[in-house]
Amino acid sequence: MNSVTVQPSPIHGRGVFAAIDYKAGDPILHVDDSRVVSEERPLPEGEPEYHCDWYADGRQVLLVPPACYVNHCCDPNSIVQYFDGVRWDVARRDIRAGEEITHDYCIDGFGDTVWRCRCGSARCRKTIHSDFFHLPQRLQIEYLPYLSELYKHVYRENVDRLLEEAGSPA
Ligand SMILES: C[S@@+](CC[C@H](N)C(=O)[O-])C[C@H]1O[C@@H](n2cnc3c(N)ncnc32)[C@H](O)[C@@H]1O
Ligand SMILES: [Zn+2]
Repeated sequence: MNSVTVQPSPIHGRGVFAAIDYKAGDPILHVDDSRVVSEERPLPEGEPEYHCDWYADGRQVLLVPPACYVNHCCDPNSIVQYFDGVRWDVARRDIRAGEEITHDYCIDGFGDTVWRCRCGSARCRKTIHSDFFHLPQRLQIEYLPYLSELYKHVYRENVDRLLEEAGSPA
């Protein structure tokens, strides 16, 4: 059972909120990402594209509530992790009940979408480019441990270059 609620968010539309306190490293949400969107199985009518995630191998998946309501923050309190191939949202720091659960959408991000962030955090980058490698380098280095194995495999050259510049192994 996920201990979260979906409610109106000050960031955008609806968001996901902690219903209990979490400690850093606690799993918050099990994320079912098995619904692949394809020509044969397109998005259901009325379902916004922004409830989807795009993976580095080209897959588009439709996330299931509550995961599809997680908003972006430039100082996110959760990250995506895989355990035995299963996707979880995990607390990046201690989270109090009532706090909104957020991701940084640029982690594992690619493409060239540019959009305006309204996360309101002190670290807000305001104008967001979807590609991870467009982040300021110090942030790429901070986020390196959060990149998925799939993303590191597909973007190996860029990751290796970053590691060389950062001077540490992934
Ligand atoms: C996965 S949905 C998040 C759930 C969404 N709030 C809802 O009500 O369905 C992603 C979309 O939410 C909006 N969004 C999320 N975080 C945002 C932010 N920090 N600033 C502005 N818009 C944001 C963008 O439109 C984005 O495409
Ligand atoms: Zn922001």
